[in-house]
Amino acid sequence: MQLANNQHNELLIRLQNVRKFGDLNGTTAKKAENLHRLFLYPAMMVPITQSLIIEALSEALPKNAIAMDPYMGSGTSLMSCMEYGIGIYGQDINPLAVLIVNAKISSYNTLQIKQSYASLIDRIKQDKSSTIDVQFPGVDKWFSRQVQQDLSRLRRCIIAEKKQSIRYLYWVVMSEIIRLDSNDRTSTYKLHQRPIEDIVKREINVIRDFCVLFERCLNDIEDFKQKLSLKKLLNGYTYSKYHQIHWGNSLKKINNDLKFDLLVSSPPYGDNHTTVTYGQHSYLQLQWIDPLDLDCNIDYDYLRTTQEIDRQSLGGKLDSKWINNNLPDILSRIPSLNLFYNSIPEGDRAKYFKTISFIADFEQSLDNIVASMKDNAFYVWTIGNRYVNKREVPNDKILIDLMTNKHIPLIFNAEREILNKKQSKRNRSSQTMEKEHILIFQRQG
Ligand SMILES: C[S@@+](CC[C@H](N)C(=O)[O-])C[C@H]1O[C@@H](n2cnc3c(N)ncnc32)[C@H](O)[C@@H]1O
Repeated sequence: MQLANNQHNELLIRLQNVRKFGDLNGTTAKKAENLHRLFLYPAMMVPITQSLIIEALSEALPKNAIAMDPYMGSGTSLMSCMEYGIGIYGQDINPLAVLIVNAKISSYNTLQIKQSYASLIDRIKQDKSSTIDVQFPGVDKWFSRQVQQDLSRLRRCIIAEKKQSIRYLYWVVMSEIIRLDSNDRTSTYKLHQRPIEDIVKREINVIRDFCVLFERCLNDIEDFKQKLSLKKLLNGYTYSKYHQIHWGNSLKKINNDLKFDLLVSSPPYGDNHTTVTYGQHSYLQLQWIDPLDLDCNIDYDYLRTTQEIDRQSLGGKLDSKWINNNLPDILSRIPSLNLFYNSIPEGDRAKYFKTISFIADFEQSLDNIVASMKDNAFYVWTIGNRYVNKREVPNDKILIDLMTNKHIPLIFNAEREILNKKQSKRNRSSQTMEKEHILIFQRQG
């Protein structure tokens, strides 16, 4: 895929045009696009931003190119790749993320889905049982008795559906209902119970809410199917190019032996505990989903505590002794981290061990990622510089150093403003990010 000089220049002109005229900030973004609103996953990328960049790159890719996202979240970047006929592989450590993306890509047989939905409604009407099928510590704190009964009914009726790809859709819509109808506040990603006065006032109807969202989801599937069909990217009712989604811990390995042409990803910007608690945000949902419909290779007890997924994620486990022993090496390899660390007063440096631990993990995952990419693959990273104790961590520069160490130079960069990013109002000690950096790398020669 090595581009001749003129092709490389044309690519750069296309990317510069996107930077100059494209809506990278996502002001014209549509929530319904690419099944984006199926589940409100934390810190989702903006479909239009990803699509603009991928469109510009797509002409420079080989015919049957395959993209990978090793931190795929709810799959926004991968869905944008599908619009341009690029094959996709994605993995994530969060079992819910894997289910969401599987639901988004598995089948677009809307007639079959509608028939299944009519049967589901019949089953729900016939199921008069008030049995509660799911027990876990704190269940009564997070769900009223009535909601537990309704979710149990819905769960039984979903399990009775024979087609797994349709069950995936039901689980994800049910997950969104759990987000909205549990006693958890929707204003933050961390689990926080709503005030009691608020809880007693709410009038919740799980089944009605599920139906409203599922019918909206059917429309969104129809639209996406139409998009793929117009571009002749459907084979029957499935995406005609390569598509595989697995559960995977990218720190340990990429669970696919292919070599990829393109990386499109937005990694976490710091450890999940102190940035975005993707795992905590998925904990209540995962309690209700039938484990048989989750990836069978998950190698840890994701429901051990509300924090377990975040603990297993990049930077989730702090080993201060290891950091102390390895810090000189890490700093010597990453000049921008060295500069940042040495700008911190000595007495405060230990407060940044979590940040260092996250970067060390990210560096290790990069070994696995680069080993899975073709020599001249493109890497499109979207990354933000988070604040820790009011200091901006230069994630963009750190990433450039890490890629340079792998002899993969930056060929293009752009900035986008973050609009409406959900932020914890309680988290007043830290400033919040206003910009993200889109960094594109490719090995030359
Ligand atoms: C910023 S989100 C990804 C957003 C996504 N690229 C999109 O387009 O919406 C970061 C994701 O990294 C995942 N993650 C964190 N540590 C991981 C690890 N070790 N292996 C795989 N995924 C991980 C989190 O679960 C989260 O879903």
